[in-house]
Amino acid sequence: MRKVSMEEMAAYCNRYGFIFQGSEIYGGLANTWDYGPLGTRLKNNIKDAWRYFFIQIRENSYELDSDILMNPTVWKASGHIDSFTDPLLDCKECKTRHRADNLINDFDATINTDTLSEEQMVNFIIAKKVPCPKCGKSNFTDIRKFNLMFATQRGTTQETLSTIYLRPENAQGEYVNFLNVLRTMRTKLPFSIGQIGKAFRNEITPRNFTFRTIEFEQMEYQTFCKKGNDEDLYDYFKDYGMKFFEYIGLSKECLKFKDHEKLAHYAKAACDIEYLFPFGWGEINGTHNRTDFDLRMHQEFSGKSMEYFDTETNEKYIPYVIESTYGVDRLVLAILFESLVEEELESRDTRLVLKINPLLAPIKVNILPLIKKRHTEMAKKVYSELQKYFMVSYDDANNIGKRYRRGDAIGIPYSVTIDDTTLKNNTVTVRDRDTMQQVVVPVDELKSYLSDSMSF
Ligand code: GAP
Repeated sequence: MRKVSMEEMAAYCNRYGFIFQGSEIYGGLANTWDYGPLGTRLKNNIKDAWRYFFIQIRENSYELDSDILMNPTVWKASGHIDSFTDPLLDCKECKTRHRADNLINDFDATINTDTLSEEQMVNFIIAKKVPCPKCGKSNFTDIRKFNLMFATQRGTTQETLSTIYLRPENAQGEYVNFLNVLRTMRTKLPFSIGQIGKAFRNEITPRNFTFRTIEFEQMEYQTFCKKGNDEDLYDYFKDYGMKFFEYIGLSKECLKFKDHEKLAHYAKAACDIEYLFPFGWGEINGTHNRTDFDLRMHQEFSGKSMEYFDTETNEKYIPYVIESTYGVDRLVLAILFESLVEEELESRDTRLVLKINPLLAPIKVNILPLIKKRHTEMAKKVYSELQKYFMVSYDDANNIGKRYRRGDAIGIPYSVTIDDTTLKNNTVTVRDRDTMQQVVVPVDELKSYLSDSMSF
């Protein structure tokens, strides 16, 4: 069994309709990607799995859908205007801009840049004569801080234009709605607000296909709690993250925790879960102890009290927040790398197969009439019945072997063949994607057979 490289993955995603280059017909826009029909289904299935795991089966857990554009004071209060920056420097020779930490890590992957100050990074680059990856010379400007937020203008006239920002994280939507959710859901601490939504960052060095992009989707989850309960909850959500990844089918040996040494401006403690991609370990989740920082800052800047009245102790206090955040696009990529393999068959032939967890499979069942005209009517009947319960596809092109291969390549867990026996006995042949074993199932029992097999 062979896993695929990053280049092969990008080609696969394009060929089978998972991910296309953004604005492709215009030559693209660097580092933007569009999800095709299968990629969109995969993304939605990941989001549904998150909703189940975080919203549905957890108590006091509420979903929100807040706007991307927010009052700009939100970003002043949150610290993003002042502190959400990357350390950048320019090559004086070829004028390319680089992130100082990436420059160092590309030169020597063993250096932990999290522990280096800006001055130490500059000294390292000079002492080691770290070369520019573009022109090979080592002649850089000083490090400058570069804000990662995309700014845009809002207003009806030139004079009234004001700067607003595309949100760089969706968490602030949860914080500014803390009081609204508390009031309308009549809830108590600890409670959680989760949100799935787009975030935007002007990443200067996008790389690795969809891993680091300027527009991406996050599934963020904020648990508001009493100070003192925060450290236990922090540990709890680190483990819950691992459980979620096992639930969606990421293997344990490709996952690890990584504690942050350099903390974001809002965090008291932070730990990532990383996945082993072909380019190395990469963050797919973060758990952060954000203390009462965000709510306290919003109280200060908005003038609105963010205090919670604890009826058990008769105390008033600003809650602490434990954040558990997931990047949807990075999860799509991790799931694809986890599942896509080239497998050698007994016949010495190979097949490309996406051994994806059926829960996430974009299409669950493939309906295959063996002979086009003779079996079409019955196949269409089975197709429309199953469509009520599953995402089903219908394929009557090429020979049955080719149709199996295409279904395997896009991860369809079960193929249902309609042939003369179906017309005679009202049974179909169901083929399992992974084992390639076939079983005969009465048409009347097909729905429950498939539901049981996929544990739906
Ligand atoms: N609210 C906290 C926060 O935004 P983060 O670690 O900066 O924390 C959370 O981002 C998650 O969003 C990451 O774990 C990652 O999965 C995803 N993410 C962050 N930047 C990204 C980018 N440029 N492209 C794709 N995904 C990104």
